[in-house]
Amino acid sequence: MGKRVRLMETVLRDGHQSLLATRMRIGQMVPVLGQLDEIGYEALECWGGATYDSCLRFLNEDPWERLRTLKAGLKNTPLQMLLRGQNLLGYKHYADDVVEAFCKAAVRNGIDRIRIFDALNDPRNMEKAIQYSKAAGAHVQSAMVYTISPVHTTENFLKVAETLVEMGTDSLCIKDMSGLMAPADAYDMVSTFKKRFGDNLDIDLHSHFTTGLASATYWEAAKAGVDIIDTAISPFAHATSQPATETMIEMFKGTEFDTGMDLDKFIPLVDHFRKVKQEIAEEFNLKPASDVIPAVRRYQIPGGMLSNTQNQLNEMGMGDRFFDVMDEMPRVREDLGFPPLVTPTSQIVGTMAMMNVMMGERYKMVPNEVKDLVRGKYGSLPAQVSDEIRQTIIGDEQPITCRPADLIAPEMEGYRQDLATKGYNNITDDDVLTYAMFPEVAINFFEANRR
Ligand code: CO
Repeated sequence: MGKRVRLMETVLRDGHQSLLATRMRIGQMVPVLGQLDEIGYEALECWGGATYDSCLRFLNEDPWERLRTLKAGLKNTPLQMLLRGQNLLGYKHYADDVVEAFCKAAVRNGIDRIRIFDALNDPRNMEKAIQYSKAAGAHVQSAMVYTISPVHTTENFLKVAETLVEMGTDSLCIKDMSGLMAPADAYDMVSTFKKRFGDNLDIDLHSHFTTGLASATYWEAAKAGVDIIDTAISPFAHATSQPATETMIEMFKGTEFDTGMDLDKFIPLVDHFRKVKQEIAEEFNLKPASDVIPAVRRYQIPGGMLSNTQNQLNEMGMGDRFFDVMDEMPRVREDLGFPPLVTPTSQIVGTMAMMNVMMGERYKMVPNEVKDLVRGKYGSLPAQVSDEIRQTIIGDEQPITCRPADLIAPEMEGYRQDLATKGYNNITDDDVLTYAMFPEVAINFFEANRR
């Protein structure tokens, strides 16, 4: 029954994104790529997520060049990236031609596996990215964001999973970005999935240590037949990052799930990344998170949101209203159809809750993003919004029911022309995509590096 568990390493992406604001430089990765490549990981997550933005905005690195450098140093291990479906690596829906160009460029520059998710788990927002990534030759891993609500039952997750499998996904990931999943839930969900899909479809569990549950959750997932778990080398593990790679190897050692990995190989890697962590913390004056926050499960909001909300309220001189906002958050989330709280829905729900408390009257002022969520512009919500709430927020407007990107005309040529008018001619698709993701940041980057 039991079988070897495979590990997906996140130190080059989620590890530093979670603990040190995504500030690891390529120069801090290159010296150990050869050693990482010899561990025998299922894959190395090393690109996408917030790294693209961070490269351009803070590190003066071309993300595409970073990717090519990573590829050159990793001959055996598949390179994995995280992609936000139709949002790609930006913060809005893109036209299909941009999605196609992006997936092609990612694979052409070295990506082997593309993990694709959507904040609302709306498969229509993932479909094109799945299709284009597969056409480009990548292994497609579709991810469902995990959250807790009356509508997020194992049964409903299974329905989403079935749609993603029909769309051609090669493996499935359960993405628990806030570390909410308890061990018993992992057992239930993974065994249900394994029963349904059998051994032809690998199940990967991605969790965060935020609440302190994740390593126990991984153990139960292994008992239920999980194929892959996501871990980070110890200096970049724990707190809001993944459980530590070496800890999980130790946990499974001598059991039916034994990873077969050699712990001695980690000694120089741990040494290296410990120094890197120190360097980043000093250079950017950052303090890596170290606490475990069990309250995240209680409030069911991402770890970063607890401290952000408190800080914002303090700045407005409303620090004493923190618990009022915390109580309002789940009510707003329910009103808005229980969206999982992940970028960008976490900010949308958080802002709305804060405004409701500040104004002393619910939905007196409603930000446009909240209206768009109700309008269906982000995709279909997990639960129906009541007529009353819809009326309050968008009046008599009818929400859209089509795939949001169906309303977006092709955009690549427009971005290219924009760049031409700014004096950038004969520019590669890679650069056009950089501009499409972050126009201002891209121009600043080009100015600083290409003139
Ligand atoms: Co993550």
